[in-house]
Amino acid sequence: MDNKGRDIFHPPVLLKESIDFLKASESGIFIDATLGGGGHTEAILEANSENRVIAIDRDEEAIDRAIKRLERFGDRFSVYHANFAQIGVVLDEEGIDFVDGILFDLGVSHFQLRGDRGFSFRKDDALDMRMDRSQKLTAADVVNTLPERDLANIIYRYGEERFSRKIAREIIKARKEKPIKTTFELAKIVEFSIPKKLWAGKKKHPATKTFQGIRIYVNKELESVENAVPEAIDRLKPGGRVVVIAFHSLEDRIVKNILKEREDLEIITKKPVMPSEEEVKINPAARSAKLRAGEKKLLL
Ligand SMILES: C[S@@+](CC[C@H](N)C(=O)[O-])C[C@H]1O[C@@H](n2cnc3c(N)ncnc32)[C@H](O)[C@@H]1O
Repeated sequence: MDNKGRDIFHPPVLLKESIDFLKASESGIFIDATLGGGGHTEAILEANSENRVIAIDRDEEAIDRAIKRLERFGDRFSVYHANFAQIGVVLDEEGIDFVDGILFDLGVSHFQLRGDRGFSFRKDDALDMRMDRSQKLTAADVVNTLPERDLANIIYRYGEERFSRKIAREIIKARKEKPIKTTFELAKIVEFSIPKKLWAGKKKHPATKTFQGIRIYVNKELESVENAVPEAIDRLKPGGRVVVIAFHSLEDRIVKNILKEREDLEIITKKPVMPSEEEVKINPAARSAKLRAGEKKLLL
C-alpha cells in the first residue's frame, strides 16, 4: 500500500515471454529468484496446476506482500528470504537437486522505488537503498564515509556517469559541512555538479546514474548476478531453462557472457528479447528490459 492506502502494483515485465521461455505450461519445479510482487510466480503457478515454485527475495517486505497474493496456491509455493546467490543452499534445504526452470527478473521493484527506502530521487527519504534491511551498509554510509576516489569509481563504474569525479568532489565538500542524510540532499549535490544545460528540460533526472551506481554498490548487485547465474545453470535438469531479464547494460553484459561461456547451455535467444511498444506504453519501466534465455543441453 502507498501512503494513500492504494495498492502499488508491480507490473511483471515480459510476462508472456518469460512463461513461454520457461515452458511453464509443462508441469515442473521452477525457481523464481526475484519474487518481488509475485507476478511472475503467480503466472508460473497458473500455467500448469502441477507446477511448483520455490521463490527467493532478499527483501522481507516483498515476501510478506507476495505471500498474501499467493496463499491460494498452498504448498505449491514456498519462499526463502535470501540472496539469490544462495540458490544452491535453498535447493539443498528443499532436498531438490535439479529444477525445470529458473527466472531472474533483476533490479528493483516498484514497491522499492515508490516506497520510503531511499531508492528514488523523486521523493525525500533517508538515504538507505538496502534491498535487504538486515544488511548493515546503507547508501548514507557510502556517501558519508568512502574516500573521494572510491566514490568517483563507484559512480563511474556502476552508474556509467561521466561527471563522476566532479560529483564525488562535491559530495566530499558537502559532507564536510554536515552529513548527507536524505535523497533530496544527494540529488541536489548531483544537480549542482552537472552543467544545467545538459539536463534542464530533459526527461531523465540528472541524478539517475549516480543513484543507480550507489544502489548497485550498496546491494552488491553485479557480484550476486555473477555468482548466481552459473550456480542456477548447474542446478537445471537437461532440457531445463534459465531466463534472465536485465534492466541495464552492465547486468545484461554479465548475463550475455555467462550464457555464452557455458558449453552445457544452448542459447535460445540469439538476440535479447525486448518489450513490445504496447507493453512499454502500459509500463514505461519496462522500456530498458532485455530478456535472455538458455536451455541446458541433454548430453555433453
Ligand atoms: C524487478 S523485481 C521482481 C518483480 C517480480 N518478477 C514481479 O513480477 O513482481 C526484483 C526483485 O528482486 C529482488 N532482488 C534483487 N536482487 C536480489 C538478490 N541478489 N537476491 C534476492 N533477491 C533480489 C528485489 O528485492 C526485488 O524484489
